[in-house]
Amino acid sequence: MSTNALFTPFALKSLQLKNRIVMAPMTRSFSPHGVPGADVAAYYRRRAEGQVGLILSEGTVVERPASSNDPNVPHFYGEAALAGWQHVIDEVHAAGGQMGPQLWHMGVMAEHRSGWKPSEQFEGPSGLLKPGQPAGKAMSENDIADTIAAFAQAAADTKRLGFDCLELHGAHGYLIDQFFWAGLNERTDSYGGDDLTQRSRLAVELVKEVRRAVGEDFAISLRLSQWKQQDYAARLARTPQEMEVWLQPLAEAGVDIFHCSQRRFWEPEFEDEGSDLNFAGWVKKLTGKTTITVGSVGLSGEFLAGFAGEASEPQSIEELLRRLDRNEFDLVAVGRQLIVDPNWVEKIREGRGDEMVGFSREALRTLV
Ligand SMILES: Cc1cc2nc3c(=O)[nH]c(=O)nc-3n(C[C@H](O)[C@H](O)[C@H](O)COP(=O)(O)O)c2cc1C
Repeated sequence: MSTNALFTPFALKSLQLKNRIVMAPMTRSFSPHGVPGADVAAYYRRRAEGQVGLILSEGTVVERPASSNDPNVPHFYGEAALAGWQHVIDEVHAAGGQMGPQLWHMGVMAEHRSGWKPSEQFEGPSGLLKPGQPAGKAMSENDIADTIAAFAQAAADTKRLGFDCLELHGAHGYLIDQFFWAGLNERTDSYGGDDLTQRSRLAVELVKEVRRAVGEDFAISLRLSQWKQQDYAARLARTPQEMEVWLQPLAEAGVDIFHCSQRRFWEPEFEDEGSDLNFAGWVKKLTGKTTITVGSVGLSGEFLAGFAGEASEPQSIEELLRRLDRNEFDLVAVGRQLIVDPNWVEKIREGRGDEMVGFSREALRTLV
């Protein structure tokens, strides 16, 4: 099958992409004290040289005392870290690439395996790590306001440093998603409630402030997932109607791109609807916005099993091309294949299937 659809340019506001391939945001924990160094810049530059259309950075945390549970995850605040990011974007641009940081607050988390702890308690909607399991504090209205301000500051810095877009991490059971999810949001004030719309208030306000910080013409992506790291079977929207009610206010607040995280992109979002559309497919259909799909592109197994030690073999991308060809979504994020192989895009374009590399968790030990 032709790969033309993958290599069609794409333009949206501040983005002028040469193809539809996005490097998925992937935490690498190679930024001691939160500062990304020359090795991190060179790692991203290699993906730009390898013709990745849009690079999304690993999650990089905003300025809150407990936004991270890992001392080696990069900060997106402070002079040293921002100078590091300046170097990253300059290297990516020098190689002809485009890039946005993924701005992140982890919310209530388990302690890092090293025993390292942030200076203050973890914070989330109700202080819960999993349903019924406290591991931090419930945020006050002041904490919420300060968190929104921290995201807006990081957004302004993103634009000032010259990045091409930004992404907000609203997926996988981290802070923004902890508010969305009734399992962790037991608040009785206006940031919680039985309706997903009520639990979306934090995200809507945050998107509005980020939009205000970057202006109308700067592309904002919001990453979302139904599944949570705390519960793979969790679902925020059980029907297309519920999904529309969830996403429309976010679109109106200023989201340009919904990055729809699935563990396997080929899984239909709503089994009962008689459609094989995936998450990104439904979101594009319901909101009319640009969407990114992701999840096991070019690999046989999904990433969380990969963390647990399951190896993944290279796999054909025919099904992906079929869906892209019928415009089910606009962009395709690729994770682990781009960890193991900065030249994956060129290999796809040139049909060099026999040179593809599989993924095993040993690959996480180094920045190739
Ligand atoms: C090492 C690693 C780190 C990840 N870190 C992040 C992250 O910081 N933010 C995020 O939204 N997703 C993160 N993910 C999920 C990926 O962005 C992607 O959704 C997932 O790996 C599925 O894509 P793949 O099957 O092509 O690897 C991470 C995945 C991996 C493998």
